[in-house]
Amino acid sequence: MLRPIPHNERLADVRYDIRGPLHARALDLEQQGIPIVRLNIGNPGRFGFEAPTHIREAIASHLRDSEAYCHQQGLTEARQAIVDVMRARGLSGVDTSHVFIGNGVSELIDLSLRGLLNPGDEVLVPAPDYPLWTAAVILNDGQPVHYPCPPERLGLPDPIEIERMITPRTRAIVIINPNNPNGAVYPKPLLEAIAALAEKHRLVVFSDEIYEGLLFEDAKFHAMAPLVQGSLCITMSGLSKMHRACGYRVGWMVASGRVQAARDYLRSLDLLAALRLCSNVQGQWAIPAALQGPDTHTALCQPGGRLFETRAALLRAVARSRYLRVVAPMGAMYGFVGVDARNLPGFDDQQFALDLLDQRQVLIVPGSSFNVSYRDHFRITLLPEAALMERVIDTIDGFVGELAQKARPHVAAA
Ligand SMILES: Cc1ncc(COP(=O)(O)O)c(C=O)c1O
Repeated sequence: MLRPIPHNERLADVRYDIRGPLHARALDLEQQGIPIVRLNIGNPGRFGFEAPTHIREAIASHLRDSEAYCHQQGLTEARQAIVDVMRARGLSGVDTSHVFIGNGVSELIDLSLRGLLNPGDEVLVPAPDYPLWTAAVILNDGQPVHYPCPPERLGLPDPIEIERMITPRTRAIVIINPNNPNGAVYPKPLLEAIAALAEKHRLVVFSDEIYEGLLFEDAKFHAMAPLVQGSLCITMSGLSKMHRACGYRVGWMVASGRVQAARDYLRSLDLLAALRLCSNVQGQWAIPAALQGPDTHTALCQPGGRLFETRAALLRAVARSRYLRVVAPMGAMYGFVGVDARNLPGFDDQQFALDLLDQRQVLIVPGSSFNVSYRDHFRITLLPEAALMERVIDTIDGFVGELAQKARPHVAAA
């Protein structure tokens, strides 16, 4: 008898449903020749979006300069371009030693938590969150504590509620602004209140701003770093979304605020960065081009732009639907849609997503995958064409209607 190989038990609490069993089932169906409408992942390249030519050319023209490992924190030219952005935001104390470039923000989320946490340390994470944040806290021996950002508050957190969740073990607070999945864009007074909390309780602020330029209607983005003076702020951003270049795997993080008091932490980040030698060098050449070149993302979010029109289609289709509701996303590239499950006893978002995939060939991500306590939401991306979005929302509404019909005798009998 072969003895089973044990695995890391911390993984029992870790999930990433965006590429989880549902996704595997979709692949299965596709292999059987059944086409699937995939609305599960924010991967612009899969929906016909292209990275801007000036970014692509920057990489192509530097291929020969990309064959050696570079500094563990990243190419100086690329880090300097990031410093220039932070200085333009008024952060005059930031220099290249405060910047770390990684293989996407994903790698830096893990690295930044690994450098900070000791077993049992708590990290405040929004619910809903981009689930890598929760997963990375767990994998680094920390304890995620989720602060609610419910639809009734337009997806925004309440600083008073957050403060009640702070304990002597709380080390950090994560904010995702604009938020994936709910599309909330944080107003400045809210950010100021969170910054004040962080300063009062000596928390590190992790501000994930990867969607900073994807804004709808009158939404205005405010960077967190200039608001955090008396504590450490780690700002994260990258090329995956605004620059539609997920596959290049380029992200960065910048330390600002009380960097003097964080010297040991920054040294551990440098050590962790050195242990993996450096991030993908050729992709880093795209950073100066992306940050200094023309703006190619704002138009996507304005009338006539792909994201604008698909968002409008989502809002139209949800408005005429019988069973769906959504808080209009003000930023990022997703809709976090609620299902009216009042007449659906035992409704469960995970089972719903599986049934929708099997019976309507539409792939969504269940809301509970984003660490919320309620189980009546799902996330879709705004990346498909508007017409497809309208059709899919109509299909989903019709599907919920069928479930409600079937549940009727059950409700009557109950
Ligand atoms: C909020 C958020 N942060 C980080 C990431 C990871 O991005 P990257 O491609 O830079 O690893 C994503 C990807 O979807 C995201 O939505």
